[in-house]
Amino acid sequence: MQKEITITLFGEFENKPVSAYQISNNNGMQVELINYGATITKIITPDRAGVGGNVLLGFDSLDGYLQNGHMYLGSIVGRYCNRIAHAKFTLHNTEYHLAANNETACLHGGITGFDKVCWDAQIWDGNRVKFSYLSEDGEEGFPGNLQIEIIYTLTDENELIIGYSAVTDKATPVNLTSHGYFNLSAFKEPTILNHELVIFADQYTTQFHEPPEPTLIASVKDGPLDFTKSKKIGRDIKQLPGGFDHNYVLNKTGKNALEKAAGLYDPTSGRVMDVFTTEPGLQLYTGNFIELAAGYHADNDTFINHAAVCLEAQHFPNSPNEPVFPGTILNPGETYQQQTVYKFSIR
Ligand code: GAL
Repeated sequence: MQKEITITLFGEFENKPVSAYQISNNNGMQVELINYGATITKIITPDRAGVGGNVLLGFDSLDGYLQNGHMYLGSIVGRYCNRIAHAKFTLHNTEYHLAANNETACLHGGITGFDKVCWDAQIWDGNRVKFSYLSEDGEEGFPGNLQIEIIYTLTDENELIIGYSAVTDKATPVNLTSHGYFNLSAFKEPTILNHELVIFADQYTTQFHEPPEPTLIASVKDGPLDFTKSKKIGRDIKQLPGGFDHNYVLNKTGKNALEKAAGLYDPTSGRVMDVFTTEPGLQLYTGNFIELAAGYHADNDTFINHAAVCLEAQHFPNSPNEPVFPGTILNPGETYQQQTVYKFSIR
């Protein structure tokens, strides 16, 4: 039987109400979404004993999200998630300038990205909520009016399906992702260092440093970034300053096909999360800056570094400046489409 989506007031942003939408399925899962940032605030899913727990880092009220915008907790990130080098790109002979909010780069869409605006929400049916947002021509320096739709669906197969689409009236880069921080023990384990992770990627894109160094595609083989065989996230993490914050080049067999990108397993609770995506890349970010969360230190030990892990499906960083990377330019008359699925099960 189809359950009803419940709506509650979550807070207020710029004099507009922010609502929480709770979708439940028939297998013990519940997902909560808010129209600020088209954000996922909670994912409750059963453990091996059938006991539900929230596996997503988030806050119970809007304040936490407003105070911690730098974390992009559970939000949709865009217009261009990840980094654009030197905060600029050239398209059809015009140079576009963006906000340099991450040293010299533009990160996650600039100062006021899609995670920091209110979206229109619509209940699509009993297990689906649609969020829409019009990003106006020139917003954060990007060209073109971009109309975006995100549809979240919770199925009885314990899949959270995120369907993205967008159209524009001028050519523009588009790279959208969902920035959820997961701890499959439902935060009973203080960190995700004992979670086992596999990523179906033989290569990654090197972090771009200060240009003229371009972003390169390099092999993960036998190094700390190698997750081609399942291993504990904590095994090699110390070899990387701060932890993992890398974009993997997925071993895709078909362009734009929905394929398995990664699998995450928490041996203590038995929870498994498999990630499927149409995207060419996956950013692995091990919550290296979580302890910078504002106002939540004193009595909340959940907000510690590596408390949760992000597996963000997306295009490669800096693609607008890297002609050999899969293209991220959306032209008028085309439709941007992405689907990413987080599927929960137990082992
Ligand atoms: C990640 C990014 C990190 C950090 C984080 C938010 O997607 O790769 O470097 O900015 O978002 O704190």
